[in-house]
Amino acid sequence: MRKVLVTGAGGFIGHHLVKDLVRRGHEVIAVDRKLPEFEKSAASRFVLQDLRETTAEWESLFLGVDDVYALAADMGGMGFISRNHADIMRDNTRIDINTLEAARKAKVGRLLYTSSACVYPEHLQEAEAAIPLAETMAYPAKPQDGYGWEKLYAEQLCHYYRLEHGVDTRIVRFHNIYGPLGAWQGGREKAPAALCRKVAEACLKGRDSIQIWGDGRQTRSFCFIDDCIQGLARILESGYTEPLNLGRDEMVSINELARLIFEVAGAELRIEHIEGPQGVRGRNSDNKRLAEVTGFTPSISLRQGIAATYGWIEAQVRAGI
Ligand code: NAD
Ligand code: GDD
Repeated sequence: MRKVLVTGAGGFIGHHLVKDLVRRGHEVIAVDRKLPEFEKSAASRFVLQDLRETTAEWESLFLGVDDVYALAADMGGMGFISRNHADIMRDNTRIDINTLEAARKAKVGRLLYTSSACVYPEHLQEAEAAIPLAETMAYPAKPQDGYGWEKLYAEQLCHYYRLEHGVDTRIVRFHNIYGPLGAWQGGREKAPAALCRKVAEACLKGRDSIQIWGDGRQTRSFCFIDDCIQGLARILESGYTEPLNLGRDEMVSINELARLIFEVAGAELRIEHIEGPQGVRGRNSDNKRLAEVTGFTPSISLRQGIAATYGWIEAQVRAGI
């Protein structure tokens, strides 16, 4: 049994992670500025704290901690990160510095930092037939949005804290993680949840179409939350300190994603293309290094993951009508 501190434990991935750590018998201190929205946290101790500020009480939480998973961030899909650049950079920088500094002072065992595919240069993601992004391609740097710049900066901060302050860091670059209990409305939702919601609403309200942003030919790969949680444990245990992608390489266009959701829902709908923030034109994850280092490759198909996600979102939409 290890003593584990999870920041961002009120959020989508953090909540699932806490559940998994508790199930595996670890003692978990959960930290966030809000409680999980859809279920009670499995953590025996949940501390409400705004991590942009640092207090002696907050720093004392790190004493005797074996592992820190640093997930807290101001975060969302394209609807959110395509604006709010200044606030995202300011707040996430403060959160990341405060977390690393508290870990250093308390001499915690290991710290896993959650970065993003948004660190990769935009010019490598201009084609729909995207080249899978390997870890080394992050430099020369030209990340996406204020959000991506901050993540790349924080990766480098982890690197220096490891070299000069002995914090044993891991760095994970997530590629669009989705699943039940994630944001599905309100502006922070990513494409899988947004499209599941739109399809469920259309079905329940008797509409014959859904709207999606852009021409729908932009491409992405998506990774189901259960694979993500398994990958996190493997990466922490690996001892590998350089950045690692955690995603899948089943790349689809957003039109294909929508049609898959129609199939899962048993719906016959039209797609209406409208203006909206689109981000990069094509993105896919190269998972070779993840497999070499951890022996693990995310394997849950998009169809399986979407079936689970759609079922949960459809129930949320139904409950709200
Ligand atoms: P999320 O928004 O569901 O969770 C983030 C949590 O951080 C939220 O509960 C939020 O309240 C908390 N937080 C934000 N500001 C805070 C503050 N000042 N003090 C305390 N807590 C604060 O997002 P998620 O999808 O669970 O993402 C977890 C981590 O993974 C984030 O660092 C995110 O940037 C990264 N990431 C996620 C994805 C993805 O596809 N979900 C992709 C790339 C990177
Ligand atoms: N969110 C959303 N909502 N996206 C839509 C919609 C919609 O209704 N309709 C079409 N899309 C398109 C977007 O225009 C974009 O081209 C694509 O679907 C994917 O959008 P998101 O899922 O919102 O974001 P992303 O894949 O560009 O980036 C996300 O993943 C990164 C990691 O891979 C974001 O969550 C980033 O913050 C994250 O780092």
